[in-house]
Amino acid sequence: MNNFDFYNPTHLVFGKERLGELDNLIPPAAKVLVLYGGGSVKKFGTLAKVLAGLKNHKVVEFGGIEPNPQFTTLMKAVDIVKKENIDFLLAVGGGSVIDGTKFISLAAKYERENPEELLKFGFTPIPGCKAVPLGTVVTIPATGSEMNNCAVISYNHGKYVIYSAEVFPKFSFLDPTITFSLPATQVANGVVDAFIHTTEQYLTFPVDGRFQDRTAEGIMQTLIEIGRTTIDEPTNYEARANLVVCATMALNGLTCSGVPQDWTSHMIGHELTAIFGIDHGKTLAVLLPAVLTVLKEQKRAKLLQYAERIWNITDGDEASRVDLAISKTREFFESLGIKTRLADYNVTEDKIDDVVKALQQHGMTALSESGKVTLEVSRKILEGAM
Ligand code: NZQ
Ligand code: ZN
Repeated sequence: MNNFDFYNPTHLVFGKERLGELDNLIPPAAKVLVLYGGGSVKKFGTLAKVLAGLKNHKVVEFGGIEPNPQFTTLMKAVDIVKKENIDFLLAVGGGSVIDGTKFISLAAKYERENPEELLKFGFTPIPGCKAVPLGTVVTIPATGSEMNNCAVISYNHGKYVIYSAEVFPKFSFLDPTITFSLPATQVANGVVDAFIHTTEQYLTFPVDGRFQDRTAEGIMQTLIEIGRTTIDEPTNYEARANLVVCATMALNGLTCSGVPQDWTSHMIGHELTAIFGIDHGKTLAVLLPAVLTVLKEQKRAKLLQYAERIWNITDGDEASRVDLAISKTREFFESLGIKTRLADYNVTEDKIDDVVKALQQHGMTALSESGKVTLEVSRKILEGAM
């Protein structure tokens, strides 16, 4: 097992009808900015419950954070934070609203002139980084942003990942009933996103991380068990509760501690969203089978473990077990109603050049746990995803 640090300060508040506890978790004198997306929280009553839970606080609202949150929209909220002397941010939404709020929390405290610079740090620590404290009320079980220190921000046709320990939410409310109103396709996106967060931290090479492997396998098995049920029966509390817990735990720093990681599907997927507007979860469902096919030699030992422990594949030679595990993975995504070929999203082969060019512009030239996924290998992956 590799050396690691595990740090996660987010307080989870899980369960039904708990938004009344919001006031207790925010400092009493804090002026709160409540942030949300395009209106689902108004339509389905979540915002009203949040405001009732904040009745002892001064509150200002900011709506209109779009899916794949845009820098220019977020900067409007930064102005409000400064003008209104906001002390605490409360994101009410999915990954886009939560990520947008994380960016706002950093940009509002950024002392230099150009907050765009924040997007260039990537994995490098931001010098002198400060942030307005934030909390979340999660409306989509998918990204895990509610319990991590990462945000993905859209700017000028690119998606930029930023990290800072300062943006771990102080708390996150996980109420499965708030997610009952999600359309089936968003639920399916969430199942796939959580599943592929897990594979990105698992399908590499063995380092005898038994706890990490078995935790990852537990998340994947749960998602396979409840995936179709939670789409077909949106108000089935137990099924949705299991999705909510899996999504949060899949990307909170636990299963990646001390083991190698490979974020190839995510990094290429971000370009597919930026160029073609395909939902995040759907880009991953297209890419993962192609990534595993192209990298099956480098990932052979873990793929065999995955075949046996996740798909119960024990017969046949190694190569056919690996191939069967990859086709079972594709079938699982398709069974959730998510298409797994680029052509299904009207992306034609002649567009692959644009994606490769974008990867180059964003420095994505040595991806995967091996660093061997060059632009040429990414091209092969994209060709395999057609
Ligand atoms: O905007 P509203 O009207 O609220 O509608 C949203 C939005 O259109 C709707 N929605 C949300 N909750 C709902 C609901 N509709 C009905 N009922 C509810 N309860 O769902 C739509 C999609 O929302 P979005 O937040 O974009 O979805 P998701 O949670 O999948 O987030 C995707 C974003 O997260 C980033 C992605 O890149 C993408 O920008 N990611 C963030 C990560 C992180 N911070 O750790 C990791 C992920 O890998 C991912 O990259
Ligand atoms: Zn993801």
